[in-house]
Amino acid sequence: MDALVLTPSTRSVTLTFVPTPKPGPGEVLIKVHAIALNPIDSLYVLDPVAETDRVIGTDFAGTVAELGEGVRNRKVGDRVAGFVQGACSTNDRPGCFAEYVVSPWDLLWAVPASMQPREAATVSMCGLTAAQGAFYRLGVPLPPDFPTPAIKSASPAPLSVKNATVLVYGGSTSLGMFALQLLRRALPHAQIIAVASAKHAQFLSASPYTADTVVDYRNDAWPDDVRALAPQGVDYALDCISEGATVERVHSTLAEQARLAVFRSPSGGGFPADLRVSPIYGAVWEGLGHDVGYNGGVLPADPAARAFAVAFDAYLSLHPLEPNPTRLLDGGLARVTAEGFALLGGPMVTQRSQPMVDGVTLKHLSGEKAVYEIVIEP
Ligand SMILES: NC(=O)c1ccc[n+]([C@@H]2O[C@H](COP(=O)([O-])OP(=O)(O)OC[C@H]3O[C@@H](n4cnc5c(N)ncnc54)[C@H](OP(=O)(O)O)[C@@H]3O)[C@@H](O)[C@H]2O)c1
Repeated sequence: MDALVLTPSTRSVTLTFVPTPKPGPGEVLIKVHAIALNPIDSLYVLDPVAETDRVIGTDFAGTVAELGEGVRNRKVGDRVAGFVQGACSTNDRPGCFAEYVVSPWDLLWAVPASMQPREAATVSMCGLTAAQGAFYRLGVPLPPDFPTPAIKSASPAPLSVKNATVLVYGGSTSLGMFALQLLRRALPHAQIIAVASAKHAQFLSASPYTADTVVDYRNDAWPDDVRALAPQGVDYALDCISEGATVERVHSTLAEQARLAVFRSPSGGGFPADLRVSPIYGAVWEGLGHDVGYNGGVLPADPAARAFAVAFDAYLSLHPLEPNPTRLLDGGLARVTAEGFALLGGPMVTQRSQPMVDGVTLKHLSGEKAVYEIVIEP
């Protein structure tokens, strides 16, 4: 099959013909129809953690092509979506920027007939990250119908506040758009404030995001606007940017008893960790349930985090999230690094510019996810 293979020593990615992977026990082989790009896909090519050549890529949607031993809950032809680690760890597990990918059968969700593969591909990794942040790490009460036994012992109890105030900083990020949907499902009566650029205000105020107010991050005094809306302070905050000053500024809006989720580590995002309300960080990879060699250490296998991820996929299969708006890029795998990675830019989301590709200046990614179709559905 064709696949995008990273050579860590040269920090280069090549479209290469490699053997199609075989599904092991409990796994399925998936024919990849579409992939979505995330900042980490390019980050770990620019600054590899992988030590040997491997297939890159995280988010995919496709159809089940083959069942591994013991898999009874999927069948060939099922439309599914999920995420894998690609080159984002030292583990040698192939990514999904390829014609086929292997995944555990229970870390997939069932894509409804109404959803295009390129839309479904946007959901899995950032959707789970948003759910982990809100429910697993902050202890926001779960939305109705979320399978609960998996996380009862792993999450903090909800704050004892009536009609909480919730802040989603970076509301137009992929992460922020999923967090807003999940939070509204979970807390129908909460005051939800999104911080995003003004051009996204109407979009993020409408269903299914339904922020009560969208505050413009480009106004330097945005924390004052938030404090005016929440004089007692914000109860739950998710900083979906977590870079530089954003964490301290979000922190400045918090109530006395508050919780704050961040999505970069203090060293990766460049912010202080010793704040009155400690920022709670976690990596989405915990959901995969095996040891992850990552950023110079090992993230140990966490069965509770895996159980939460399985529960989230079961929830998504019944109650899908609205996918991110997509920017469909032409050319399939062959164009991912030249164009897609140019759009993602360097390690900081806040420093993205409008790249020049083939002499054309591209509009920067804003409130949308870059996607490629790999195999067009018949
Ligand atoms: N911990 C984890 O496991 C995990 C998992 C997934 C993602 N992440 C991290 O989470 C972050 C977000 O990822 P993503 O894929 O959701 O990002 P993304 O969708 O690529 O973010 C792009 C958006 O960021 C907005 N933005 C840029 N600068 C901003 C600022 N200063 N304040 C507010 N919004 C700003 C842009 O809005 P405008 O165009 O309107 O400016 C744009 O819509 C990344 O750092 C990523 O690495 C972590």
